Amino acid sequence: MSESKVIIQLSDLHIVADGSLHGKVDSFEVLAGILARLEESGKLDALLLTGDLADTGEPEAYRRLRSLVDAFALRTGVPVMYLPGNHDDRATFRAELFDDEGSEAKSDQVLWIDGLRIIGLDSTAKDGHHGEFDDEQLAWLDEQLAEPAPLGTIVAFHHPPIPGPIDVINLITLREPERLAEVVEGRDVRMILAGHTHHVSGGALGGVPVWVATATAYQVDVAASDAGLFRGVTGSGFTRVDVDANGAYATHLTFIPDDVVLYQYDLELLRSHIGATMPAGELEAELLAAGEH
Ligand SMILES: [Fe+2]
Ligand SMILES: [Fe+2]
Repeated sequence: MSESKVIIQLSDLHIVADGSLHGKVDSFEVLAGILARLEESGKLDALLLTGDLADTGEPEAYRRLRSLVDAFALRTGVPVMYLPGNHDDRATFRAELFDDEGSEAKSDQVLWIDGLRIIGLDSTAKDGHHGEFDDEQLAWLDEQLAEPAPLGTIVAFHHPPIPGPIDVINLITLREPERLAEVVEGRDVRMILAGHTHHVSGGALGGVPVWVATATAYQVDVAASDAGLFRGVTGSGFTRVDVDANGAYATHLTFIPDDVVLYQYDLELLRSHIGATMPAGELEAELLAAGEH
């Protein structure tokens, strides 16, 4: 089956009403830069935003976010799924992003991309930064998964259902992940996507691959935690997930606004040389001679 889909996952955008985060990072500009790159590349079928969309839940932060993302969606025709995180304010999130005034409902949702199903779950808790699903949500998910999708299902939410390397952060990941494992095990779920930790992690739950995307806004320095520090540093990244009938494959992409091109060849040219038996140095020289550099 050659049909495949590309999902771009942006997590932990931490948009503010104005100014910058910690006086150093303009998270709105970062998002604008990433969306501009995505629009240049043109290869995506869905845009998935997995929580902490606003840093402190201000209405204006959501308006700014929406002004960028909705305009992107309109220009490209790419569908968008907004999911909340612990930094989001549930009522403001729904009022500003779903035009659902006065509601504190959980934002569980389903998005179909032809044969691919994306199920978004709201893992936020009313009282605290940890993640949780109530019985109703797990029953709803179970019901959705009863019918398999032609290209399978991606399940996405904010709080990782697997532990990471920073012990204190494991106190605010998804509680009782084994309950979710019971629901997804043996179903058509190709991958579980989460965010929240501001660093990349991978693992599995109930036999399903789990990918934890880093943040677009800033990174957590995992190495510093070994020295007893919880440190946030500048840096941005996001995830591309390729899905086909065989499975889902996650790729981390780093976003550096002013990165410098070291080389670039036409992919067609590279393809024609792949498998050539000449030594690597000669192959590179030939590519450089034929390509732009
Ligand atoms: Fe975050
Ligand atoms: Fe978070």
